[in-house]
Amino acid sequence: MKEIIVASTNSGKIREIKAMLDQIGIEVKSVKDVLGYNPDIEETGTTFVENALIKAETVMKLVNRPVLADDSGLEVDALDRKPGIYSSRWMGEDTSYDIKNQKIIDLVNASGKPRTARFICAMALCEPGQKPITIEESFEGEIYDHIAGENGFGYDPIFYFPPLHKTSAEMSMEEKNEHSHRAKALKKLYKILKEKD
Ligand code: IMP
Repeated sequence: MKEIIVASTNSGKIREIKAMLDQIGIEVKSVKDVLGYNPDIEETGTTFVENALIKAETVMKLVNRPVLADDSGLEVDALDRKPGIYSSRWMGEDTSYDIKNQKIIDLVNASGKPRTARFICAMALCEPGQKPITIEESFEGEIYDHIAGENGFGYDPIFYFPPLHKTSAEMSMEEKNEHSHRAKALKKLYKILKEKD
């Protein structure tokens, strides 16, 4: 495989994937580079893997080349694994993460249940005429009792990682790249593609 099209509009994710796959000589392009626009794809799956597959398959049919897609989110055990696949849509796309994060802390406090939580990242690679490859990795932690840290995005300021005694928003980029769900999934993908060639 010489080239992979990434079915994402997120430039940060595309940059991370590029950095990893450059090392094995695979050129990474965004779907916008190839089609000139970002197709609007409805995430109708019930799991992270299903949603990653829907995105990768839809774009593969449009470009007829290998396509990689990912889907990620936060599962909070005390909230029956919510927000889960609805992480970006939970409480509305336009609600700030300061509000969403405080709401999660309040709900977990009120539940009296264990504070365990995890970020999940699923990836799907679809190649024309081949069986899709899927990967799912997690980043295990806890919901902190307050918002802390300036790095990262989304739910990082309430996601406490006990081994480093920090929230994910207090971790450096290097630390997050060592432990995160997305970094682990990318490392697995790198290994699979390296063995494939
Ligand atoms: P998507 O994979 O782009 O659909 O992102 C799903 C949502 O999950 C994001 O908008 C964030 O709310 C959340 N999320 C996924 N990964 C992370 C992370 O590494 N840190 C913080 N929030 C995350």
